[in-house]
This record gives sequence, structure tokens and C-alpha cells, in this order.
Amino acid sequence: MQVSDNSSVNSRDSFQSKLGFVLAAAGSAIGLGNIWGFPTQAANNGGGAFLFVYLLVTLLLALPALYAEVYIGNQAQKNPVSALKEACSDKFPMLGKRAGIIGLIGAMMMLSFYTIVAGWMLAHAASALFDFLGFMDISTWLSTSSTLRNALFTPVFILLGATIVHQGVHSGIEKWSSRLMPMLLAMLIGLIIYILQQDGAMEGLALYLIPDFSQITNPKLIISAMGQAFFSLSIGVGGMMVYGSYIKKDHDIGKLVVSIAALDTLIAFLAGLLIIPALFVAQYAGQEVFAGGHLIGEGQLIFQILPSLFASMGDSGLVVSFAFFMLLSIAALTSTISSTEVPVSYLVEEKSFARNKATWLVSLVVLIASMTLVAFFDVLFGLVIQLLTTILQPLMSLFYFIVVGWIWQRGNKLNEISRLKEKPALRAFAFYLRFICPVLLLVVFFNVAF
Ligand code: PHE
Repeated sequence: MQVSDNSSVNSRDSFQSKLGFVLAAAGSAIGLGNIWGFPTQAANNGGGAFLFVYLLVTLLLALPALYAEVYIGNQAQKNPVSALKEACSDKFPMLGKRAGIIGLIGAMMMLSFYTIVAGWMLAHAASALFDFLGFMDISTWLSTSSTLRNALFTPVFILLGATIVHQGVHSGIEKWSSRLMPMLLAMLIGLIIYILQQDGAMEGLALYLIPDFSQITNPKLIISAMGQAFFSLSIGVGGMMVYGSYIKKDHDIGKLVVSIAALDTLIAFLAGLLIIPALFVAQYAGQEVFAGGHLIGEGQLIFQILPSLFASMGDSGLVVSFAFFMLLSIAALTSTISSTEVPVSYLVEEKSFARNKATWLVSLVVLIASMTLVAFFDVLFGLVIQLLTTILQPLMSLFYFIVVGWIWQRGNKLNEISRLKEKPALRAFAFYLRFICPVLLLVVFFNVAF
């Protein structure tokens, strides 16, 4: 426990080490977006060309946005609503508070669909297990999409997340992230080694690693890469901000943020090494995977093509299938806890809730929201994802740039730096964040939304 700042006598739960922070934040970043979203987009958009553009937009825009988000939280040492309010307090305290609440709603939106998809992953992992034990009927039911299955597995997943969050920042989030992230990496590498040995894998590897640069100027590709980068780095809902508030002020935030983005990008890259060759292995084995140069459907990739590939591998396929869906479940779990922490930290710090109560209340609201999505799946599911990733996340990122670059006066080193003469590299960064980032973001935003 440590005292959060000079004005407060309350001790605030926090991460105990920089490594713990990096693993927790990387855990938030690394999720279904990396292991499902990234490879699917890469396979659809010229393989290596997508990878190249993705790296570019991560570096140019997503990384500075992540920096701004973590920096605001770190300086405030408070939950995202209070942190934004404080950063805007000289001129626009209400604007900051409202933006914080919008971010918090974004976190709940993320949880409402993410926990459903995560539930599918758990169900598929359980399906492999029941198949192995010889309960074929249960296994088939678990691998078949149904409302009942959603209504069972979504709550199970929400419960798993709540169990970690209610234990606190150090004893829950940090401890579990430090256990789960190395496990995830080991499973991913094991699966890659296995898949690359199968017939057909090398063709997939070539598509992935040899870029088709004719696709690179396609605006659709740039926009997809941009949305993917913001979602993947968990920017714009306050999860990274609240994690930033749980490490001591004035740690070298820049370096830590770069390590988080590097880990996130590494795992997305590795997931591509697994999924794209696996698709070609399935194709080699006679499955229809691509139609007209495109994957036949996003959902089909994970829930049909890969499961039937695993099934064709006999007993070892069951182990591979279990490991694969556990990998996805773990990735989803560490992302879920960061979004849950946003409203929980707000209720604890601003509304004096006990952590326990706050966690269960938030989980209940998420459960209601996700069950509403399950009930009106066709209308709501895609809509909520669309709203979050194409509107809310980019707009919140723009707000972070404006706060750090323009509004926030007291204690903002970036503002001071931009006036200093003797540190040209830092001045250039401050200039970049204040002037270039908001403009770049607006250009892309208007291309996405309209
Ligand atoms: N970054 C996570 C992923 O790649 C998703 C996420 C978005 C997590 C927003 C938290 C907040 O799957």
C-alpha cells in the first residue's frame, strides 16, 4: 500500500512493480482483438501489407494516444472520471467529468459484447474437454451456437472477471496478469510450432510475411488498421488510464507505454503466424477457406474452419483445440478485468462503495447489458461494436490529445517541455502530440464515420 498523493491520507491499492503494471496493461491490450481480429484482418487485406500499415498507424497514432491516456491517469492518481475532471479543472471541470463518464459507458459497452464472445471461447474449450472424456452429445451442444449457451457461458465469464477484480489491484489484477500472461505466450508459441509442421502451412506463412504492396494505398486498409490498433491497445475507455493511476507518479511512463505496445504488437504478430498458416492447412486438407481472395466469414474462421481442422487431427487435435480456445479465453479475461476496473474504481473512490459491492454491482449491470445483446443479437451486437470502435474510441482519443496538448495546465510536463529550448526531441514530441495527432485522427475519423 502506498499513499497516493500529498493531499490525500487514504492509501490506495496499487501495482507493486513496474513489471506488474506492464503485464496487467499488456493483458488488457492483448485480447480477442489480437488473436482473432488481427489475423482475420491481415488475411483479408493483403497479409504482410496489413501488418506493415498496422505497425505504421500504431506508431504514429495509437502509441501517442496510449501515452496520453496513461499519462493523465498517472499524474492524477485517481479513477478516470476524477482524473479527467482534474486535468480539465482550470477551465472545464464539467467537460472533463462528462468525458470520463462517457469513457466509463464505453467500458461497459465493451464488456457487454466482449463477455459474450469470450463465453463462446470458454464453451469451445469445454467442448474439447467433453469430447476427450467421451461425452459426445455435450461436446456437440457446447460447440453449437445457441441462445441458451450464451445465457450460460456469458455469466460464467463475467463471474470469472469479477472474482479477480474484487480481490483488488495488487492481489487480484496484478497477480493474475502475472500468472496468465506468460501462460498465454507459452501456449501461443507451442501452437505455432505445431501448426507450422502441418502440410500447407508454408503457403500461409508466405502470404503473411511477403507483403502484397499493391494493397497499401487502399484507404479501406488504412482505416481497418487504425480501428484495429485503437481497439487492440484498449484506448479510449479509461482502462489504461486507471492502470496508469496505479503506478507511482513520474515513473518513466514513455518507456512503459512503449513496452506495452511492443508486447501487444508482438502477440498480434505471433497470432498471425498461428492463424494464417492454420487456414492454409485447413485448405490443404480440403476445406473451403477463401472465396474470391477473401475469407468466407469472420465467425466461420474461428468457430468452423479451425474446429473442423482440429477434428481432422484426431486425438492430438483435441489437445490443440483445448489449448487454442483456452488461449483465447485467457486473453479475453485479462482484457475484461481492465474494463471492469474502470467503473469499479469510480464507485469505490467517488461513491464510497466497498470494492466487493462495487464489483458485484458492475457485474450485474454488465450481465443485464450482455443479456440484452443476446436477446436482440441481430440488431444490437454489431451496432454496439460499431459504435464503440468507430465513434467512441476515436473521439475519446481525440479528447485525450486535446486535454494533454491544450487544456491541462498545472503539472503537465508536456506543456512545459513544449516551451523549453534545450530538449529538441521532447519538444518535437510535444509538438507532434499537440498539432499533428489531433489532425491525423480527425482525418481518419471522418473517413471512417462518413
Ligand atoms: N484490447 C482488447 C483486445 O485486443 C480489447 C479491449 C478494448 C480491452 C477496450 C479493453 C478496452 O481484445
